[in-house]
Amino acid sequence: RKKITVGTLRSLHRRGEPITMMTAHDFPSAHVADAAGMEMILVGDSLAMVALGMEDTSEVIVEEMLLHCRSVARATKAAFTVGDLPMGSYEIAPQQALETAIRFIKEGRVQGVKLEGGKGMAPTIERITSAGIPVLGHVGLTPQRQNALGGFRVQGKTSLGAMKVLEDALAVQEAGCFAVVLEAVPAEVAAIVTRKLSIPTIGIGAGNGCSGQVLVQVDMTGNFPPGRFLPKFVKQYGNVWAESLKAIEKYRDEVKSRQYPAPEHTYPIPQGELEAFAA
Ligand code: KIV
Ligand code: NA
Repeated sequence: RKKITVGTLRSLHRRGEPITMMTAHDFPSAHVADAAGMEMILVGDSLAMVALGMEDTSEVIVEEMLLHCRSVARATKAAFTVGDLPMGSYEIAPQQALETAIRFIKEGRVQGVKLEGGKGMAPTIERITSAGIPVLGHVGLTPQRQNALGGFRVQGKTSLGAMKVLEDALAVQEAGCFAVVLEAVPAEVAAIVTRKLSIPTIGIGAGNGCSGQVLVQVDMTGNFPPGRFLPKFVKQYGNVWAESLKAIEKYRDEVKSRQYPAPEHTYPIPQGELEAFAA
């Protein structure tokens, strides 16, 4: 597969072909997403929960994101890879955001960055893109602002709310984003926003009318223990956690019963050597 660039994404969008995106948080999860043909890989700050066991995304810091970005980048042969700027690393000033974005490119080895926010982030997006760093916008539900939004709620459910989503999406487009994530927005609203934009929209919980889709990999592969809350928009395509559990339990049982290791898993020693050694 050829390396995907912003140019490739633009031509997919022009042809009306949906863009596929998936999160990855380390070398193996990036390897499998790239092998499966994802056009974009996002090192989301969701890694706070899925890889680091944190309560929410507010706790993860730049250094942790960079470590995971680097491991993802080592596995990614074709996908266009984007790193999520964590809360606190870009909101203070455009200068701060550009400094962080440069670290993501130089140390994280990703090709672009994502940041949350609409109209208010436009000067920041302009600053980063003017340095030649592609920015993926993120409007609608912005989880880093969960405390201000009053939790993880659908955005754009009223005509006023829908207008705000549209304004934010237009603002980040105008500021230079190459695409924008629409999270937790009614399908009809996301479809209209998509039609009004010239850049691709990447939906998550935003229906079928977006230019592409993104999901959190551990959610869609079912790589989490039973009882985890999954948002309505997640479709679970696999049962990776249950598969791993089965394999590890079988190993446990075979070690306990001395079925493992079997002769084929052991190294031989020539008979004469053994006799000399054991004597
Ligand atoms: O952090 C993340 O995984 C994300 C995607 C769900 C869009 O921001
Ligand atoms: Na995120």
